[in-house]
Amino acid sequence: MRPDDGRGLPQPAPAPLLLLLLLVPTDLGMEIMAPPTILALNGSSVRLTCTFNSCYQVEKKQFSLNWTYQGCDNCSEDAFLHFKLKALPIEPNRFGGRVEFTGNPTKNDVSFTLHNVQLDDEGLYRCYVMNPPDRHKGIAKIDLKVITEEPPERDSTVAVIVGASVGGFLAVVILALVVVKCVRRKKQQKLHTDDQKTEEEGKTDGEGNPEEGPK
Ligand SMILES: *[C@@H]1O[C@H](CO)[C@@H](O)[C@H](O)[C@H]1NC(C)=O
Ligand SMILES: *[C@@H]1O[C@H](CO)[C@@H](O)[C@H](O)[C@H]1NC(C)=O
Ligand SMILES: *[C@@H]1O[C@H](CO)[C@@H](O)[C@H](O)[C@H]1NC(C)=O
Repeated sequence: MRPDDGRGLPQPAPAPLLLLLLLVPTDLGMEIMAPPTILALNGSSVRLTCTFNSCYQVEKKQFSLNWTYQGCDNCSEDAFLHFKLKALPIEPNRFGGRVEFTGNPTKNDVSFTLHNVQLDDEGLYRCYVMNPPDRHKGIAKIDLKVITEEPPERDSTVAVIVGASVGGFLAVVILALVVVKCVRRKKQQKLHTDDQKTEEEGKTDGEGNPEEGPK
């Protein structure tokens, strides 16, 4: 009897194990989201968005947030914004007074806005979020590119126009092909059903009028 019990015991184990495996990823999963690249026109204001998902509600006393800036691969990564019951710029920082926190941690948003964007604001911006009791720190990275003046805008409108006309042309061609195909298919079907009808009519003529049949 004992050997049987021994063999029997491992069987119930897989279920909790499976449950654990399902639970672990959600525990690990402090998801943090930010666009990989943001383009900004110099002199403009740009919002660097960073949002997160946590299994726990944000407790301001425990919540931790850091934004850092790294100007180049070799450059140091410097924090310029953190959270102490509320989001505060770390003074002094390279941006002067141009950093404004425009997120809302209780709504899982830790975005900030950078005003009067300069060419040398280009670089990597990282947001770090920690939301205890979630044990895992979330990190997201944004590559900020600063562009000057309007040419890219004109380029993009030209690209949009070209894209739209090419796209529109293709759409018309595809639509025409589909219509032709459909018309052909319908014709074939009609011919086919006509054949069937005449066949059936032939049949029903022999057996009786189909319209009076159901009544
Ligand atoms: C943007 O940069 C260009 C070239 O560096 C400069 O001439 C221009 O004044 C800047 N524009 C703004 C709005 O800062
Ligand atoms: C980066 O650092 C390495 C050594 O750590 C150095 O050889 C290289 O020249 C540096 N690159 C730049 C762009 O400063
Ligand atoms: C933010 O920086 C502080 C000080 O370096 C550090 O103690 C804290 O753990 C950091 N928080 C996150 C979420 O990275």
